[in-house]
Amino acid sequence: MRTILAAVVSVDGKITRGSRSGTSEWASVADKKYFARLIQESDAIVMGSQTYATAKKYMKLSPERLRIILTRNPQKYRKYEIPGQLEFSNDSPRAIIRRLSRQKYKRVLVAGGGEINALFLKANLIQHICLTVEPKIFGTGKNIVHPVKMIKNLKLISVRRLNRQGTLLSRYDVIQ
Ligand SMILES: NC(=O)c1ccc[n+]([C@@H]2O[C@H](COP(=O)([O-])OP(=O)(O)OC[C@H]3O[C@@H](n4cnc5c(N)ncnc54)[C@H](OP(=O)(O)O)[C@@H]3O)[C@@H](O)[C@H]2O)c1
Repeated sequence: MRTILAAVVSVDGKITRGSRSGTSEWASVADKKYFARLIQESDAIVMGSQTYATAKKYMKLSPERLRIILTRNPQKYRKYEIPGQLEFSNDSPRAIIRRLSRQKYKRVLVAGGGEINALFLKANLIQHICLTVEPKIFGTGKNIVHPVKMIKNLKLISVRRLNRQGTLLSRYDVIQ
């Protein structure tokens, strides 16, 4: 099983523009297309409850793709649960990945936000990172990785320019 972390950031590493949630106002069309493809290629997607709150209006649930939303209070979301499609969990990242692997999921996308990225990176559960850098600087906003102490070494696999303005897609392997 392969676990991929994907994010779109400003040049100064922000996943949100200041206190505004979501990326729809500032991510390029090229990134949106790329992210849609990553979703299509994944059979499980993991995200935090804050990301879910902003993404749920765009989410197309289907039996082909399991979404796991991390929350410390899964009870609160029970009525929205659809087994195999939308689940809410307070299991540890390791327990989630172990379970998905046991259930034969092949490609897991960790889709943020910063808190969940930090949890999965710190637990050494990410093998690959797909990072889109938009040619913008926000100064304030949430970081791609919530501040916790860790050191990760990455190996650059490819860099691609996605449009004329200079949106860059970099792909990395995490070599721990
Ligand atoms: N640019 C991008 O690529 C990108 C990608 C994703 C998200 N975003 C943006 O980033 C923002 C959200 O990021 P964020 O860092 O604030 O939040 P987040 O990572 O999406 O979610 C944080 C939430 O996850 C839950 N959580 C954290 N640690 C947990 C643990 N150990 N066990 C169980 N649940 C746990 C908590 O939910 P409860 O409070 O429910 O307990 C916490 O509030 C949104 O504005 C979103 O639009 C941007």
